[in-house]
Amino acid sequence: MRNLTTFLSIAILLAFNACQSPQSNKKDAIGTKIDSLISLMTIEEKVGQLTLYTSDMDQTGAYIRKEYESDIKQGKVGAIFNAYGADYTRRLQEMAVNSTRLRIPLLFGYDVIHGHRTIFPVPLAEAASWNISAIQNAARIAAEEATAEGLHWTFAPMCDISRDPRWGRMVEGAGEDPFLASLIAEARVKGFQGDDLASNNTLAACVKHLAAYGASQAGRDYHAVDMSENILREVYLPPYKAAVDAGAVTVMTSFNDLNGIPATANKFLLTDLLRDEWGFEGFVVTDYTSIMELLHHGVAADTAEAAAISLKAGVDMDMQSGFFQKTLPTLVENKQLDEALIDEAVRRILKVKFQLGLFDDPYRYISKEREENDIMNPAQLEAARDMAKRSIVLLRNEKQTLPISTKVKNIAVIGPMGDNKRDMIGSWSAAGDWSKSVSLMEGLQARYPGANIQFAKGCEIEGTDKTGFREAKQIAEKADFVILALGEAYWMSGEAASRSTIDLPGVQQELAALIIETGKPTATIIFSGRPLTINWLAENSPALLQAWFLGTQSGHALADVVSGYYNPSGKLPVTFPRNVGQIPIYYSMKNTGRPFDANNKYTSKYLDVPNEPLYAFGYGLSYTKFVYSKLQMDKHSITAQDSIRFSLEVQNTGKLAGEEVVQVYVHDQLATITRPVRELKAFKNVFLKPGETQKISFSLPIEALYFYKADLSYGSEPGKFTIFAGGDSNASLSTAFELR
Ligand code: NOJ
Repeated sequence: MRNLTTFLSIAILLAFNACQSPQSNKKDAIGTKIDSLISLMTIEEKVGQLTLYTSDMDQTGAYIRKEYESDIKQGKVGAIFNAYGADYTRRLQEMAVNSTRLRIPLLFGYDVIHGHRTIFPVPLAEAASWNISAIQNAARIAAEEATAEGLHWTFAPMCDISRDPRWGRMVEGAGEDPFLASLIAEARVKGFQGDDLASNNTLAACVKHLAAYGASQAGRDYHAVDMSENILREVYLPPYKAAVDAGAVTVMTSFNDLNGIPATANKFLLTDLLRDEWGFEGFVVTDYTSIMELLHHGVAADTAEAAAISLKAGVDMDMQSGFFQKTLPTLVENKQLDEALIDEAVRRILKVKFQLGLFDDPYRYISKEREENDIMNPAQLEAARDMAKRSIVLLRNEKQTLPISTKVKNIAVIGPMGDNKRDMIGSWSAAGDWSKSVSLMEGLQARYPGANIQFAKGCEIEGTDKTGFREAKQIAEKADFVILALGEAYWMSGEAASRSTIDLPGVQQELAALIIETGKPTATIIFSGRPLTINWLAENSPALLQAWFLGTQSGHALADVVSGYYNPSGKLPVTFPRNVGQIPIYYSMKNTGRPFDANNKYTSKYLDVPNEPLYAFGYGLSYTKFVYSKLQMDKHSITAQDSIRFSLEVQNTGKLAGEEVVQVYVHDQLATITRPVRELKAFKNVFLKPGETQKISFSLPIEALYFYKADLSYGSEPGKFTIFAGGDSNASLSTAFELR
């Protein structure tokens, strides 16, 4: 450490003298130090800063490949991912700091997506809470834990809008809606990065995957994307932009091509839009081997061309392909590439290292003490449980089947997710240890200590074996209440986990039919990383809960909800289709020239399935009932200088206290291009005691009416608008106003 500081001060002083000028006086302190450092670097050292390699894991634990170790020691690697743990990161950091000429510290990155050790609900589940401050807090805790193990940088938030549940990575995002997803993206960045990136408990965020990865054709992962710039700007880009505006210091490219240009070679995305239009000043990293994949995309003839076109498009750091390392020095030597481009990328990367405080102390994030105390502590576990219960969505509750009285004597838990720890933490669960997660059985046992709780698996998640059905039926028949715990395995969503059908896998629905036929009061809990086509359960299971994957505290959170200890408040962040033929399906669709008319064949519909989804965006029940009324505007005629002000009343007419997400949608009735039938523009979480009525006021900025016109200009147009308010995207309470 002392050596590094001494060395840097000499180096900086020398170089500083060489670049004194009126302009350089104005440069911020970090900029000057970086320029000094760059002036000392060889081309190999520069390209080293642009190179990110993985650490690996085997039976004996974490290890670094021999060739990467040698590269680190020669300054040919600037960052390592998948390495964490105080001892291990210290060992790697020492290699970089003690063995290299310039002693530039390594940056340690990792996919801290929904918690690090304490695993929070999968991101799609968190989005179902519609609770922005809880989501920010979840990211904050993830950062506390990850930094306690030496990490500096998370590959999150994932900001990809997705309207196709076949795509397994829908689980990693915030669903289908740009407004909700943008608020969540912003909250996650703030949670990870905190107020001061240099603090030893904040992580640099990485906005991914730029851009439109969630629109991969036919829901097949890594597939091509082709879309109009209007839809790109209006629907897909806002969450990335919100994350950049929130101060995220890095951005990751996506695997897909966009309108023919792979994202990793896409100058429009990485430079024109990201830097020139949005003013992003951090660095851009590729996704895993994306530069190499330019060969498969067929836009680069060889390694050198792939490296050159991605660098020129705006990529700064090469994740894992090694193409920058292999080709950039020679390209510069042969005068085929301007070294200034490389300097620019180095500058951006070093800046983030400075911001993180790594030049002050390369070991500042590495602390054995924090590793022991700041991980999975009671407060963190409590926050995870709170987030998990808020993420559960009650889809059906006939005759108030739920909650289950705490006086119940015999409960039967049936299904492959009932006594399951492995799947609870979901995909992308970072350093989460599934054996520490709370199963549904464990949660119920803690919540119902006096009850006799029997479990029968009935069947596996997949496969055709029904030999367990008999035992399952037997315990159901003896029970006072049955909980069916069904769903997908954790690995069925996430990267490279697209499905062409999204039914419950295996024979689980048959098991459900057999159990529900007993006539016992039954609640079905669905675990999945995406909407499943659960029409049969939606009609036949007396109660139905969407649990997604809830993380370390799954069982406790579920027991909180089924017992009524917590009144469910989650709302779907994504539309549930009836079948895959309806996909893509989302609430903010266009009206078409032939809107649905049941009496007219020649209108927009299917012969074999209704247009309506199974469950609409924003939908979610409570154990109580909320009644909306008195939607009133201050004035029905406004100008572009006004804001749009209105209020409404919500009453809790049931017997239990509960939380409701009051949602506001707007429809632009007439415009120069077609507009969605409604768009989410505001929401508020309100808590109401039984019988309580609250007046809720909203004030929308006029920008809420802006859209991209045919010429891609952004603004509003005069005319009439409808406001809808209610508890989901089918909200029927409405009023109208005119923008003059
Ligand atoms: C590939 C994934 O697409 C990306 O989201 C992730 O951050 C990287 N691998 C690193 O693990």
